[in-house]
Amino acid sequence: DRSLKIAPSILAADFAAFGAECRAVEDQGADWIHVDVMDGHFVPNLTFGPAMCAALRPHIRTVMDVHLMIAPVDPYIEAFAKAGADIITAHVEAGPHIHRTLQAIRGAGAKAGLALNPGTGIEAVPHLLDMVDLICVMTVNPGFGGQSFIASQVAKVRALREMIGDRPIHLQIDGGVTPETAPLVAEAGADVLVAGSAVFRGGSVSDPAPYGANMRAI
Ligand code: DX5
Ligand code: ZN
Repeated sequence: DRSLKIAPSILAADFAAFGAECRAVEDQGADWIHVDVMDGHFVPNLTFGPAMCAALRPHIRTVMDVHLMIAPVDPYIEAFAKAGADIITAHVEAGPHIHRTLQAIRGAGAKAGLALNPGTGIEAVPHLLDMVDLICVMTVNPGFGGQSFIASQVAKVRALREMIGDRPIHLQIDGGVTPETAPLVAEAGADVLVAGSAVFRGGSVSDPAPYGANMRAI
């Protein structure tokens, strides 16, 4: 399905109300829920791990899209799969054996995603095309929400769209997505837009209507 999908990142939601936030944003039209896992080592910030994902699972009706910003990845794959992740995305920069990691993700029963930091080229991707269900182009340096979109990544999106061809692989953008930047990446061929601050701004669990308006604006 190549239609444009919005995946709100709960990194920008109320951490004390994640379950209700997931339901609220889905009620407002979210296509997937993007879950940012950070380890304070691969990225300079900490969020949460598989236990939080398992707790969230019953509150997500759509797709639980788990973005692992952790290193190493392999020791935790089974736990995130058991927690109910539909998609588990690992960074190519997270270790020397991304091929093994992607194999392990599929082996655990989840869809496999491959994320590329802004400073990383696409030369590894052709060797991994048969093993991925999603490629995530980071349009900010991972670690924090609310950063500015790095426009040089649009050319990378375009090149990856061409490389993917008609394979059933999602092309995801993560970071700095706003009503201004979304058209740039959509035009370049992205089909899943992660957005944190742009979706959650101005709303709350008790008044989620702005979430819907924000998503429609993207
Ligand atoms: C960044 C995370 C993103 C982040 C995006 O490290 O991977 O998913 O939540 O936040 P915004 O949309 O605010 O840039
Ligand atoms: Zn993310």
